[in-house]
Amino acid sequence: MKTLNVDLGTRSYPIHIGAGLLDNPDLIRPHIHGNEVMIVSNETIAPIYLERTLSLLEGFDVASVVLPDGEQYKTLDTLNMVYTALLERHFTRRCTLVALGGGVVGDITGFAAASYQRGVNFIQIPTTLLAQVDSSVGGKTGVNHALGKNMIGAFHQPQCVIADTDTLNTLEDRQLYAGIAEVIKYGLINDPEFFDALESKIDAIVNRDPAVLAWAIERSCQDKADVVAADERESGMRALLNLGHTFGHAIETGTGYGNWLHGEAVACGMMMAAELSHMHGWVNDDDLARVRHILEASHLPVIAPGQMTSQQFLDIMAVDKKNLEKKIRLVLMKGIGESFISDDFDTEKLQALLDKALNGSKQG
Ligand SMILES: NC(=O)c1ccc[n+]([C@@H]2O[C@H](COP(=O)([O-])OP(=O)(O)OC[C@H]3O[C@@H](n4cnc5c(N)ncnc54)[C@H](O)[C@@H]3O)[C@@H](O)[C@H]2O)c1
Ligand SMILES: [Zn+2]
Repeated sequence: MKTLNVDLGTRSYPIHIGAGLLDNPDLIRPHIHGNEVMIVSNETIAPIYLERTLSLLEGFDVASVVLPDGEQYKTLDTLNMVYTALLERHFTRRCTLVALGGGVVGDITGFAAASYQRGVNFIQIPTTLLAQVDSSVGGKTGVNHALGKNMIGAFHQPQCVIADTDTLNTLEDRQLYAGIAEVIKYGLINDPEFFDALESKIDAIVNRDPAVLAWAIERSCQDKADVVAADERESGMRALLNLGHTFGHAIETGTGYGNWLHGEAVACGMMMAAELSHMHGWVNDDDLARVRHILEASHLPVIAPGQMTSQQFLDIMAVDKKNLEKKIRLVLMKGIGESFISDDFDTEKLQALLDKALNGSKQG
């Protein structure tokens, strides 16, 4: 097992990464304050992992709530199911919420914990690659609105993150690939050595080599923990973690939540960010090709969805949380491992990129 630390002063917390951690009660029990524990999971994950999680918590007053599965259920209505479960059990401010699942369960549970009785204790047990490398770390929580992704939420850090890499054995390939998109993201943002190493190990990751997967999860979590420690509330560099996400969120919203996986949309969005950067002369041909190659080797999409229009993209991108004073801000690249945030790009080039991307996908 490897343990990393998210360094946030008195709110610092450990991230445990390793095989078989769901059999170790000593990792979770010290982080439960009080006696009441609500495990939040979903109808796919609960049949596989709920019993084991319950057995870690013998002696506590434990309840569970099983949510419907899917990004389309990351809503206020589903969140309300968690509040209802807590209130039916008369759980108090001393309760602990445990998120057992992927990013959707984690984001909903975290927001429930941030808001139930103005904030209660919370633990993440991420079970997808995406959640283990990204969503379980850093304290961003929330739900979607029909008009925009993750538009309702709060910052609320967990007490600890327990990433049992064995849980990835039951994950579908398509979900694994979606998680690889966020791994590649860290390399592109500010870790060029990681990107180089990923290029040589991408086949091993795609083929689920446990040691290489564990390495990629650890490095990703370390990169994310460093960014979060430097800028918890996203007043500066944390925005870089949104590389590919402005385009990606537009794809998720525009195609209807749940049709494109989050990681797939981010992959295509990172390709679009690289292409827009290339159009400005910031990224050279070679680096553009490397981005495309690693995404394709990960079975991730690099072509925008043909059913969307460029106006739809622009309309959705106009409500992105990074925007200041109604200007679209994007994370762009100056090469691999050097991303920056900017609203100072040529909007005609953005329009040309969208037209080219969407026409290309309509034809092909
Ligand atoms: N809070 C953040 O910082 C942050 C960062 C990145 C992404 N996100 C959010 O995370 C969400 C995407 O997360 P995700 O990719 O984990 O999707 P997800 O939670 O929908 O999980 C993907 C699918 O895998 C299933 N599943 C989960 N674990 C499994 C396992 N071990 N075995 C078999 N099936 C399993 C789930 O039931 C689901 O069907 C998006 O809503 C995104 O906005 C949040
Ligand atoms: Zn993401």
